[in-house]
Amino acid sequence: MKKLAVFASGTGSNFEAIADACADGRLDASVVLMVCDKPGAAVVAKAACRGIPSFVFSPKDYPSKEVFETEIVRLLDEAGVDLVCLAGYMRIVGDVLLKAYEGRIINIHPSLLPAFKGAHAVEQAVAYGVKVYGISIHWVNSDLDGGRIIAQRAFEYDGYDPEEVHRIGQKIEHQLYVETISKLIQ
Ligand code: GAR
Repeated sequence: MKKLAVFASGTGSNFEAIADACADGRLDASVVLMVCDKPGAAVVAKAACRGIPSFVFSPKDYPSKEVFETEIVRLLDEAGVDLVCLAGYMRIVGDVLLKAYEGRIINIHPSLLPAFKGAHAVEQAVAYGVKVYGISIHWVNSDLDGGRIIAQRAFEYDGYDPEEVHRIGQKIEHQLYVETISKLIQ
């Protein structure tokens, strides 16, 4: 059974989708570690109530990204993690983590990459008046949202409400992330 780590910074709905799919057997894997860089984030309680070990930290408590990523790599190694799934982890992965887990880190992004990279993809797309939105899952490399694409799913939306786009997109994210992880670990 493959071991997953999920990294998140916020609500953690993708973390929940992955953890629940592991728990009910849809994914032949287990989430052995949740990593969060925002101590107050809702995902922290979601991991705790599922009994999933977590590493919750404030980047400002560390002298540099190299130092906190060294600690993260130590924990990933200790837990025997096969695949790192970034799920709303709003931080650029640095060299220490990339070198240690290259080819084993994936990310989910709320746009049809390479369009609308970065933190406010949906808002940017709505501002452009986009009619076809989508979700991408890609390998993580040193380019922001720039690694090779693994899976994408598109949906049509003709309106101007970013919240509604987020709602539609997140339902797709939860399914697509579980399906994609399932294919990767087989
Ligand atoms: C997700 O919609 C994910 O696509 C996005 O953050 C959200 C996290 O939601 N990620 C990015 O924008 C990465 N650039 P969640 O905490 O409910 O899973």
